[in-house]
Amino acid sequence: MAPIEYGQISWQNGLAYSEQYQDVYYNSDKGLLETDYVFLQANRLAERWLDYPNASFTIAETGFGTGLNFLLAAKLWLDTAPVKANLHFISAEKHPLSPTDMSKAWQQWPALKPFSEALIALYPKALEQRSVSLFNQRVRLSLLIGDAAAAYQSLSQQQPNIEVDAWFLDGFSPAKNPDMWQDRLFLQMALLSNSHTSFATFTSASAVRRKLMAAGFQVNKQAGYAKKREMLYGQYAGASHAT
Ligand SMILES: C[S@@+](CC[C@H](N)C(=O)[O-])C[C@H]1O[C@@H](n2cnc3c(N)ncnc32)[C@H](O)[C@@H]1O
Repeated sequence: MAPIEYGQISWQNGLAYSEQYQDVYYNSDKGLLETDYVFLQANRLAERWLDYPNASFTIAETGFGTGLNFLLAAKLWLDTAPVKANLHFISAEKHPLSPTDMSKAWQQWPALKPFSEALIALYPKALEQRSVSLFNQRVRLSLLIGDAAAAYQSLSQQQPNIEVDAWFLDGFSPAKNPDMWQDRLFLQMALLSNSHTSFATFTSASAVRRKLMAAGFQVNKQAGYAKKREMLYGQYAGASHAT
């Protein structure tokens, strides 16, 4: 495996800031509420997980960052889904935070300490082995280190039967990080999606909307969180690929 290039972070009032992308990891000090609104609610996860009938549910993310989206999704899963079911959270990350920066980032969210301690303890192993189980094996975290489009392409080639139930399109804004929001990413998303697959993203950039629609997603807009005017969410409505 190639050596990991850690993200170059600076700290602005305790919040992680990316020197590479000149962008913040969170837009406000209300990161927990933002994740809940943009990713958990817009994918209707609480409703889908209550009385969830299947053995596992798969979320795929672009940009693991501090793992805030991961931990809040895992917490919701533990709170709502049937005990016998498992959550598989896959996240593609091009520049993982170093374990030291990861620990520092979590000082921001003391309320989540019981959860973040579990992630911080296993994070070096997750970077090394790329997959770890947490919370009494009820949640599996798989990290795909590298560019999201390339990582999901490899995943669909290596595991053609994998089906994503919900996409979290995070990553820095398309204006600051156009490389991540390339056509190939949306094509890979389609290949890993089925009629039950939802997506949500903080951005409402028209290029992203067009690419999602071209890949077969039905796209809706709603008010964005806090200062963001609009965000996108929706459902895969294209040809069925995953089996
Ligand atoms: C806004 S942060 C994500 C926040 C994260 N979801 C969380 O819960 O903390 C954006 C992340 O996208 C990653 N990233 C940027 N370009 C990428 C690419 N092409 N492929 C995968 N990850 C990328 C960055 O390194 C950064 O960690």
